[in-house]
Amino acid sequence: MIALGSDHGGYELKQEVKAHLAGRGLEFRDYGCDGPQSTDYPIYARRVAQAILDGECDRGILICGTGIGISITANRIPGIRAAVCTDCFTAHETRAHNDANILAMGGRVVGAGLALNIVDTFLDTPFSQEERHKRRIAMIDEK
Ligand code: RB5
Repeated sequence: MIALGSDHGGYELKQEVKAHLAGRGLEFRDYGCDGPQSTDYPIYARRVAQAILDGECDRGILICGTGIGISITANRIPGIRAAVCTDCFTAHETRAHNDANILAMGGRVVGAGLALNIVDTFLDTPFSQEERHKRRIAMIDEK
């Protein structure tokens, strides 16, 4: 199950992502927002992060205007590793090296064609399971 969330800056691209996931036969839940009206990205970052921490969803996709505000908020929550991606190489590496559990994108930054390729790369790339990457990920949440 994939958790989706956006503010108004990411709403349109989120609709494209939903259609794409449905076309691939992948299940998703939309945690808002529900329209293009101005709203506050931290609400949706927290909802999607919680859905992952609660085990309701395995991965998340968060979209705001730039991908930045929504990923900063998600990354404040221990256990969340949200990566802003504007290209497929980064999307691949953040799964393989960082085991990122949330993809963040900017609806005002990437066009739908590239964004959907980034989504596919993020969803289809497994974590490498390499010890050095596991060690570094464990260090992220160290106090
Ligand atoms: C909203 O105008 C915009 O600030 C927001 O979508 C995001 O880009 C913030 O980082």
